[in-house]
Amino acid sequence: MDWNQELIEKRKNSKLGGGQKRIDKQHEQGKLTARERIIFLLDDNSFQEMGMFIQHRSTSFGLDKQTFPGDGVVTGYGTIHGRLVYVFSQDFTVLGGSLSETHAEKICKIMDLALKNGAPLIGLNDSGGARIQEGVVSLAGYADIFYRNTRASGVIPQISVIMGPCAGGAVYSPALTDFIFMVEDTSYMFVTGPNVVKTVTHEEVSSEDLGGAKAHAEKSGVTHFTASNDVECLKKVREFMTYMPQNYGELAPSTKFKYSKNKQEIIQKILPENANFPYDIRDIIDCIIDDNSFREVQELFAKNIVVGFARLEGRTIGIVANQPNALAGVLDIDSSKKGGRFVRFCDSFNIPLLVLEDVPGFLPGTDQEWKGIISNGAKLLYAFSEATVPRITVIIRKAYGGAFDVMNSKNIGADLNFAWPTAEIAVMGAKGAAEIIFKKEISEANNPEEKWKEKETEYATMFANPYKAAERGFVDDVILPEETRLKLVLAFRSLENKAESLPRKKHGNIPL
Ligand code: HXC
Repeated sequence: MDWNQELIEKRKNSKLGGGQKRIDKQHEQGKLTARERIIFLLDDNSFQEMGMFIQHRSTSFGLDKQTFPGDGVVTGYGTIHGRLVYVFSQDFTVLGGSLSETHAEKICKIMDLALKNGAPLIGLNDSGGARIQEGVVSLAGYADIFYRNTRASGVIPQISVIMGPCAGGAVYSPALTDFIFMVEDTSYMFVTGPNVVKTVTHEEVSSEDLGGAKAHAEKSGVTHFTASNDVECLKKVREFMTYMPQNYGELAPSTKFKYSKNKQEIIQKILPENANFPYDIRDIIDCIIDDNSFREVQELFAKNIVVGFARLEGRTIGIVANQPNALAGVLDIDSSKKGGRFVRFCDSFNIPLLVLEDVPGFLPGTDQEWKGIISNGAKLLYAFSEATVPRITVIIRKAYGGAFDVMNSKNIGADLNFAWPTAEIAVMGAKGAAEIIFKKEISEANNPEEKWKEKETEYATMFANPYKAAERGFVDDVILPEETRLKLVLAFRSLENKAESLPRKKHGNIPL
């Protein structure tokens, strides 16, 4: 059944109305209406609307002669898989979904309720921004929303779904929330649109190229997920919510799970013979977690780090993994920011963290240094160091230099660290290390090339294994690939009641 048919079926069983003309206009653009979106997002007939009779108060530019019941936004609460969520859905058919004083008040009302009742907030955004006829009161309305987004951050999960235009300062509410979903081809986000860009920089760019789903998924990393149409997007949000707890004081729900035993054979064959060859870390993730449970976040951005939610024995975990398939898995500015933000979300919401490490170090170069790899790399370091949820690291292959410390090392508070026998834990790769510390010997040798090789082997024998680190307790156990899932299951079970708090403070000062 395609989504149009599905929509017709859903509408038959729903009490929700809406003028056919307005519906047709939205559909022509490939978009659902605000109410239809709610039908797809929530459990059948669970939506309880609030503020349907609200009217705007504006008297300027002829608005005193026009009324719009609900004033361009549908708000209320309902359930997703039986769990309470608060929702607002902007109605583009009413003055372009523009945000008036009362429109903002309606959103704020449900934000306040979501916060007080410890339930997630989901915003379906489709709006031309501040209602131009209203001036400053609509700008103040946005500020009221931003303020509440910030106050609710870390208390309840906040999800933004961009299903139409989202321009100007309006993008900052989604940016303050935890996760953004965008619909391809019909949604865009930018601070200044193509016309302003052309006037100021003489650059010609389409809305799609400037701020469409693809641009934000690949280039800016602003969006975490994309979908090809409204229905697919809303279904993705429903499924995503099964990984989320209701609030910071609860655990994510536990679900039934399956684990295919043949993965224990597959996992032994993933690493290439040559330690410098790439492989896809997601193959290892798949072999460890419950079947089909990995939901990658920001899949197309900073591909050298993989982050996402998965399940282990039916429980949500957050995974942060270096990706040898992209830039050899180095840490750079974008991957540090991506990893750091994900770690902080998991820590806010009681989601245990699993780190899979295969990192040759930080990316060198003027571009990275001048753009601030120092302070950006520190974000990931800070995020891990501050996290108090259960934290486990498995060193798969390389753990070099500062990146060893950053990737959830024991000394920054990881609870349990394992290493595969293939792990190489050292200040740097053997070749580079030999060149530096045996410089004189190599240059004075009859055959410098041969000497270099000999010294490289000497250094590798000493450090390119996990045993030196295990001797000193930086690694708790050396485990085989096929044992990894069981070891992690037992380790996470042992950390279930972990209780750790930070020193008393107002808040820390993460290098933003
Ligand atoms: C009042 C608006 C509106 C707005 C659209 N409409 N945006 N009404 N305030 N901000 C109305 C239109 O007049 C039109 O009404 C209807 O909505 C549909 O708009 P169209 O232009 O016909 O639709 P479309 O061609 O799809 O274009 C959509 C659009 C465009 C790209 C969003 O409408 C647009 O550029 N709007 C202005 C965007 C903007 O600059 N907003 C302010 C951003 S600054 P009728 O009656 O003709 O159907 C901002 C500040 C935030 O938001 C501050 C936070 C700090």
